[in-house]
Amino acid sequence: MITSALSGCGGDDGDSGSGGGDGKLVLGFSQVGAESGWRTANTKSIQESAASAGVELKFSDAQGKQENQIKAIRNFITQRVDVIAFSPVVESGWDTVLKEAKDANIPVILTDRAVDSQDTSLYKTFIGSDFVLEGKKAGEWLVKDYTGKTDPVNIVELQGTPGAAPANDRKAGFADVIKADPKFKVVASQTGQFTRTDGKQVMETFLKAQPKIDVLYAHNDDMGLGAIEAIEAAGKKPGTDIKIITVDAVKDGMTALSEGKINYIVECSPLLGPQLMDLAKKVKAGETVPQRVLTEETTFTPEQAKAVLAERKY
Ligand code: AHR
Repeated sequence: MITSALSGCGGDDGDSGSGGGDGKLVLGFSQVGAESGWRTANTKSIQESAASAGVELKFSDAQGKQENQIKAIRNFITQRVDVIAFSPVVESGWDTVLKEAKDANIPVILTDRAVDSQDTSLYKTFIGSDFVLEGKKAGEWLVKDYTGKTDPVNIVELQGTPGAAPANDRKAGFADVIKADPKFKVVASQTGQFTRTDGKQVMETFLKAQPKIDVLYAHNDDMGLGAIEAIEAAGKKPGTDIKIITVDAVKDGMTALSEGKINYIVECSPLLGPQLMDLAKKVKAGETVPQRVLTEETTFTPEQAKAVLAERKY
């Protein structure tokens, strides 16, 4: 018998409790981990939406490791859940386990992040953001902000987890836009693992190694917030001495934006839970769903952040 419902993070085995057998849709979900404010909000959205949609959720936290996700997916297959969903830690290396799910006739939904499998029949749909577009929006703001200026602009970049779709795509989208003007130069680019701690540490090394930094582009708010601590500790004013662009728009990021410590945030919405439950029900019922479900997102300036901060839910 398939075992029960809503559990917290921590397990890596995909088996989260006891109970079930009451006719509810059983959804096995493998989460990346808890590396950022975005991820915490995403987990909450999925757990709360499952509860209100009457979906029995088997939640597994991969703690940032692909092998844990593969193990969790295999456990979901053994338990014969109705639908498997996961947010892939990295893009590559999923074909074998996805084929196992397909052979077991268990539909898979990708949430938040893509895989690079050529065989798109291995999953039913992919719900999440356009990360390349997010990178482009960051680059477009920068180009506009420096319109009419000719001096070189030295940029440092904090990348997300190596191999993760948002790290690959946000880097590519940004580079694609700024390459049109040679005054923009990425003088250093390194991973900060999407975490505040690594963002701070890597920014410290950037500040020591680079004689002149004009702009920081961080692939998420958390790394930007860590970097702000490093910039302040170095006696510089974030947002003024070094302009900062981040992605996500979680509450802490929006607070820093409203205070002028960040200059621009490209939104990436973590609130994927309601759409995921809806898609899972449709997939289980054998209904056709779109191959790609795009999340609607915006951008924020400090003024816009001030206007919405009080109502920001995450
Ligand atoms: O995949 C979404 C990204 O993962 C978020 O932008 C980042 O904060 C998270 O860790």
